[in-house]
Amino acid sequence: SNMLAWQRTGFHFQPEKNWMNDPNGPMFYKGYYHIFYQYNPEGAQWGKKIVWGHAASRDFVEWTHLPLAMVADHWYDVNGVWSGSTTILPNGQVILLYTGSTNNSVQCQNLAYPANLSDPLLIDWVKYPNNPVLTPPPGINNTDFRDPTTAWQTSTGKWRITIGSKVRRTGTAFVYETEDFKKYQILSRPLHTVDGTGMWECVDFFPVSTHSNIGLNTSTNGDGVRHVMKASLDDDRHDYYAIGTYNEANNTWVPDNPKIDVGVGIRYDYGVFYASKSFYDQNKKRRILWGWIRETDTEHVDVMKGWASVQSIPRTLVLDQKTGTNILQWPIEEIDRLRLDGKQFKNVEVKAGSVIPLAVKSTSQADIVAEFQIDKAALEAAPPSAEGFNCTNSGGAAQRGALGPFGLLVLADHMRQEQTSVHFYVSKSTDGSLKTSFCTDQSRSSNADDVDKQVYGSFVPVLEGEKLWMRILVDHSIVEGFAQGGRTCITSRVYPTRAIYDNAQVFLFNNATKASVVVSVKIWPMKSMSITTLR
Ligand code: FRU
Repeated sequence: SNMLAWQRTGFHFQPEKNWMNDPNGPMFYKGYYHIFYQYNPEGAQWGKKIVWGHAASRDFVEWTHLPLAMVADHWYDVNGVWSGSTTILPNGQVILLYTGSTNNSVQCQNLAYPANLSDPLLIDWVKYPNNPVLTPPPGINNTDFRDPTTAWQTSTGKWRITIGSKVRRTGTAFVYETEDFKKYQILSRPLHTVDGTGMWECVDFFPVSTHSNIGLNTSTNGDGVRHVMKASLDDDRHDYYAIGTYNEANNTWVPDNPKIDVGVGIRYDYGVFYASKSFYDQNKKRRILWGWIRETDTEHVDVMKGWASVQSIPRTLVLDQKTGTNILQWPIEEIDRLRLDGKQFKNVEVKAGSVIPLAVKSTSQADIVAEFQIDKAALEAAPPSAEGFNCTNSGGAAQRGALGPFGLLVLADHMRQEQTSVHFYVSKSTDGSLKTSFCTDQSRSSNADDVDKQVYGSFVPVLEGEKLWMRILVDHSIVEGFAQGGRTCITSRVYPTRAIYDNAQVFLFNNATKASVVVSVKIWPMKSMSITTLR
């Protein structure tokens, strides 16, 4: 249907129609980036017959939709071909492991491989005849055992994978060892567990370098390597990660800071971003993260539109060497190729309590980079406050403080009846230190009332001498914000009714009571990706 067609994105990955959820098995193979995804060919809602959709691209900019890679056609996956991962072995073999929901709705792990390794598009997949290769371990519920990871190779040459689960309310990640991906041995200790976090979906586990932004192959370990562990919490539908140490000998992973543990600490994204998965791109030596971005309107509207969900902009992922305590996520460099002629606004003074329109046509698809300097005298004069600020509960863009909020309004019509705010809010603690929050306020994003209008956000580390800066990708019904080079990220789905196509404008705003802010901003309208379908 053409209704609400403007909500379709221009440079985000989405199928032609129907429901999509998790990214699956991303990899680079013989010149092509592959993305598989949870797909319901029967409609715009999640369904029992979920299959693996498939697409490939040489450059993340021109995509080809390929035939479904796997469908629900065996007893061990007839209730759904669920999420999983790929591993490229040193001998060139490609291993695909996925969860099948059996005829009895038991979650088991299955093996598949390409029918023809010389086909760079990997169109045909073969399921191993002796599937399933793994069933739930003793004492684990049949419905709590899913989403195998990419395998890593240990110093003995054997391979390990981890699979999310729970034991009562304790989230856990079991580890299995294998030589041939057909027979597996469960290791006596799980990789990690965290009480009270519930079921861990789509666990991701990978190394990052402490001293370089070059990505690491999933099997890398040793000096100068930290290991990131991520779990998608079924209970609260967010992706939590933590940085820690992997000990191969006793097969455990220990977080650097027990307060920032998996499921209780920091998130990849403070908006909508779930079931994400990373892969090592051996082509450009980087680690890339994809995440599922669901709709935040109502299901009946999705059904009317005939589609639901997009994938995030793929993000390169590195350890933040300046803080050491978080990762940095940044849109892959290929996205910059979609930028049309940009317009720059330098050193614009935005006085306390003011809004300034930026004359750029057509910002319903845009890439924006903005840098902010708060007036020094106002910074010093700002009263300390014992009250904790919190994006979600402290009133959004309309809340006024001494040092914020200030930022950008995107997907705003000229009357600003609709606007989505992406902003900073700085507060001074009683000890004089500054704390910066990064927020997205959707409360005025749409005249429609059956859509999510929460304020999202969290703190963002700002180091001595750093300016505040953000990047925002706007694409019709999605806004992705990256603060301080990707230390804190917020993705939101918004559904304006007026601020669409050429009516979508950008404004600077400063709702602080005292401080003026000087802003330099560059806005690039964005081209669309090209997407064709192989039939
Ligand atoms: C996460 C998830 C996975 C499962 C898949 C089913 O969104 O629930 O745990 O494998 O989706 O579509």
